[in-house]
Amino acid sequence: MRKVRDSFLSRFDIPNLGRLGIPVVLLVALFAACAEKTPDPWRDLPGRNAYVFHCGACHGKRGLGSKNLFPPLAGSPWANGPVDVPIRVVLQGLEGELTVNGEDYMNIMPGLGKRLKDSEVAEILTFVRSAFGNQSGPVTAADVARVRAETKDRKRMWKVPQLEPMLKGTGE
Ligand code: HEC
Repeated sequence: MRKVRDSFLSRFDIPNLGRLGIPVVLLVALFAACAEKTPDPWRDLPGRNAYVFHCGACHGKRGLGSKNLFPPLAGSPWANGPVDVPIRVVLQGLEGELTVNGEDYMNIMPGLGKRLKDSEVAEILTFVRSAFGNQSGPVTAADVARVRAETKDRKRMWKVPQLEPMLKGTGE
């Protein structure tokens, strides 16, 4: 058996592909195939389906966004910062130059406030803040109702400089 394998391997000019080589190559391939098919670990969290439906097309199922087009929610200070910031972004939208995790964006996110109820925004943002490796506190429907009331006269999307002070904790 050993001989057969040796002579089989010797047909390929691969150095150091000894006894371990093939099992290791197979394991790596198997691991890669599984990682691709493994459901996201946060799949069963509440809000996951609403997230995929309302946000997933742009921000991705795994919250990674798309380079220079759609910013990531994974590890984003905008998603994880004071709840008033992501609530405003979801209710009224965001436009213009933006840098998230060192990458630049210059795009438009339309507001979803008319389409989503307070409880839906709360559930989706609570999901976002606890999935994708994020570990930030929940958002309640009462938070959303308060911000909705505070911003009821706001008809346009937010611009980054308007929300940045709030993000850094120096705003209202
Ligand atoms: C049509 C595409 C689209 C949809 C749908 C969308 N977004 Fe966005 N989102 C964007 C874009 C584009 C930006 C950046 C805008 C800019 O460049 O100023 C953004 C920015 C953000 C930000 C701030 C930046 C960051 O990466 O953290 C948050 C938070 C956010 N979106 C959350 C959400 C949530 C939650 C939903 C679903 C309720 C959602 N978005 C739906 C396109 C979208």
